[in-house]
Amino acid sequence: MTCGPGFYARRLSRPGAVLAPMAGYSDAPLRQLAAEEGALWTVSEMISARGLVLGGDSEKLTLGRPYPGEANRVVQLFGAEPDILAEAVRRAQAWFTPAALDLNMGCPVPKVRGRGGACLLQTPEVAYDLVRAMRGATELDVSAKIRLGWDTNRSVEVAQGLAAAGASLITVHGRTSAQRYTGEADWDAVARVAASVDVPVVGSGDVRSAAQARARLRSGVAAVMIGRGAVGNPWVFRALATGEDAAPDAGERARTALRHARLHVAFYGADRFGLLSVRPLRKVLPQYLPDHPDLREALVQVNTVEDVERALAPLLAGSGADEDRMKVYEISGPPGGARGML
Ligand SMILES: Cc1cc2nc3c(=O)[nH]c(=O)nc-3n(C[C@H](O)[C@H](O)[C@H](O)COP(=O)(O)O)c2cc1C
Repeated sequence: MTCGPGFYARRLSRPGAVLAPMAGYSDAPLRQLAAEEGALWTVSEMISARGLVLGGDSEKLTLGRPYPGEANRVVQLFGAEPDILAEAVRRAQAWFTPAALDLNMGCPVPKVRGRGGACLLQTPEVAYDLVRAMRGATELDVSAKIRLGWDTNRSVEVAQGLAAAGASLITVHGRTSAQRYTGEADWDAVARVAASVDVPVVGSGDVRSAAQARARLRSGVAAVMIGRGAVGNPWVFRALATGEDAAPDAGERARTALRHARLHVAFYGADRFGLLSVRPLRKVLPQYLPDHPDLREALVQVNTVEDVERALAPLLAGSGADEDRMKVYEISGPPGGARGML
């Protein structure tokens, strides 16, 4: 669904938190679970602007493809050339029906360095040009997600420059690129950014629970973004949307883990060895059940939905897993649908 300008302001008028972009995790099935539990919005895995513009059948690119009926989903792009970013925005808007577009300025991995990502924190003028180019290519809100800096904190200066260039919202992960994921996110620094710009600032870093998210909101951010803490725990969004802390029992968590696997097959299509559909969930499924280490060995070896069902059987008995099977069909079509067809 295309939402027009003002998407962020509209969503921020409600309580809740945001699902972080996470390469390898924030794909359509995870976004669907987070959205159903009340996430304010979700962000796609980062997508190469060059790949979108120069790639072959990018329209079917699973990184950008929405699940049927997906709304409130921001598409994140990375790149370093204004013309390419502008064209990538046009294509992403036509193909992936985003609610808004986000520029990645935080990814420290070598694949991205030199072509955008956190590298832009060293040359923020380039990032300002990119935001201007993106703004020129769409009516939708354009935002940027930064780290505090490359190796020193220059986040206030960069955020002010981005806002002046037309960013409607800025997300700040409270670490420098050099820190990668070590140490603790610096929320005092995030608070200083929130106080220094007129546009809403979303804070990111180390929020693992609804209680922590509420505490972080006191730093003056417009909303809190949750990444790793939402993997295996979409209920954190329900707690923040409703104000009531959710503590799903092991049966509900197992049902959701199984549903996650069914959504994977529905979205990616059933492949013979589960390479695309179920195997990537090996790293995710145990996170639904940290209190059941006995199930871990089976969960990290799954290839098919049936394997997942078998592994979770002790917790699924009588917990309504069959009703969920119908639910996934209704939302996403039958499992086994061809890639790109759903
Ligand atoms: C596996 C992984 C992949 C990530 N991929 C992206 C990405 O594609 N784009 C981005 O802006 N940030 C990415 N991040 C950073 C997160 O969005 C987030 O800012 C960071 O993990 C801190 O939040 P957390 O402690 O809630 O996970 C990624 C983080 C992780 C752990």
